Amino acid sequence: MIDYDLVADKWKKMGCKVPTREMIKTDEQIEGIRKASIANTLVLDEVAKHIRVGMTTQEIDDIVYRKTKELGGIPAPLNYEGFPKSVCTSINDAVCHGIPSKDDVLKDGDIINVDCTTNLNGYYGDSSRMFLIGNVSEEAKRLVRVTKEMLDLCVEKIKPYMRLGDIGYICEKYAKEHGYSVVHEIGGHGVGLDLHEDPYVAHFGKKGTGMVLFPGMVFTIEPMVNQGSRRIFLDASNDWTVYTDDGSLSAQWEYTLLMTEEGLEILSK
Ligand code: MF3
Ligand code: CO
Ligand code: CO
Repeated sequence: MIDYDLVADKWKKMGCKVPTREMIKTDEQIEGIRKASIANTLVLDEVAKHIRVGMTTQEIDDIVYRKTKELGGIPAPLNYEGFPKSVCTSINDAVCHGIPSKDDVLKDGDIINVDCTTNLNGYYGDSSRMFLIGNVSEEAKRLVRVTKEMLDLCVEKIKPYMRLGDIGYICEKYAKEHGYSVVHEIGGHGVGLDLHEDPYVAHFGKKGTGMVLFPGMVFTIEPMVNQGSRRIFLDASNDWTVYTDDGSLSAQWEYTLLMTEEGLEILSK
C-alpha cells in the first residue's frame, strides 16, 4: 500500500487534484471487493449461458436474482434509490437503466446491455456486457465491438499517476475516430464500499487533467457509445431509463477496476 501522506503531498505541491484517503482501499477492503467482483462476474456468466431470442427481460432479472442469492450476495440495484429490479437491461436505443419487464421480449437482431452489481458481505462489484440476440446487423455488431475495444484500450493505456482526464480523452477520441459519440451526462464511478462512490469518471476529457490516479483506487469505466448523436433523454414514465434522442443504437461495457503499481487490474467484467 502507498504511503498516502507522502504521495498526496508530492502531487499536491505540483498543483494536482489528488484522491482523498478514503478513495485508497486497504488490503482488507480490496480482498472483499475482489470477492464481490468475482461473484458479479459469475452472475453475468449465468446470464450469458441462458440469454436468447424470445426471453423476457424479467427472466433475465430472475436469473440475476437467483444466481446472486446462490452466491450469498444481494443484487445491489434492487431498491437502490427506488430502482424496482435486480439488474438493468437496456435494449437497442436504451442507453442505460432499462427496467426488466415481463412485457419486454428479446427479438432477433436486438442488442442488449445487462448491467449487474453485487453486494457481497457489504462489498460491491459492478460490471456490464452487451449481448447479441440472434442475427444482429453488421453495423450493430461494429458498435458493440468498438465500445468494448474502447474500454479495453483504457485498461491497456491507463497507468498509475495518470489522470482521470486521460480516461475520458481515450474514450471520446476512440468514439469519434469510429464515427460514434460518447454520452457525457452519465459516467463511471468509484466503487467497493458502496455502489456509487467518488470520484466520478467522465468518458470525455482533456489529457493530463483531473484527479491523479493512485494505486489502491477502485473504480468503474463504463462508456456509453451512441451510433448517432450523444444527446439523450430520460423516460418520463419511469424516471430511470435513458434513451438516445435520435433513436440510434447505444452500447455500453463496464468493468470494476483496481489501480495497482503496474496498471489496471480487472476485478469484474
Ligand atoms: N450498475 C449501474 C452503474 O453502473 C448502477 C445501476 S443503479 C440502478 O452505475 F439503480 F439503476 F440499478
Ligand atoms: Co453497472
Ligand atoms: Co457502474
